[in-house]
Amino acid sequence: MTERTFSIIKPDATKRNLTGKVNAVIEDAGLRIVAQKRIRMSRAQAEKFYDVHAARPFFGELVDFMMSAPVVVQVLEGPNAVAKYREVMGATNPADAAPGTIRKLFAESVGENSVHGSDSQENAKLEIAQFFTDDEIVG
Ligand code: CMP
Repeated sequence: MTERTFSIIKPDATKRNLTGKVNAVIEDAGLRIVAQKRIRMSRAQAEKFYDVHAARPFFGELVDFMMSAPVVVQVLEGPNAVAKYREVMGATNPADAAPGTIRKLFAESVGENSVHGSDSQENAKLEIAQFFTDDEIVG
């Protein structure tokens, strides 16, 4: 079923000029980038986005990291896009990520892991709505 998921190319990747290389892996996997913008996240945006992790010990570090350099927020579309993109990203910790995945190819650590992808269709809808209006998504 055609689905949409939300993606972020994180500061560690934008700083190393890897946006195009990450996008090539996404497109080679059959996902279409139907919306994309480069933004500098505010503290309010980062705290809202990661609210589910607010009680975790790494929350402050995570929010600071997401504000530390530009990010590229994206909407990806394709068959089973949520599960497909999680497969393409690889495990959260790059040390555990499978060969050929974005995190195995590019990520530096569990905190600076190059990309985010939604973990469910429900969260994908909420995350997309935090950063995009309907008319910014062109499928
Ligand atoms: P993400 O998929 O964006 O969702 C939550 C993020 O928390 C996760 O990717 C990691 O970047 C980050 N994270 C998870 N575990 C740790 C950790 N132990 N230390 C720092 N950041 C972490």
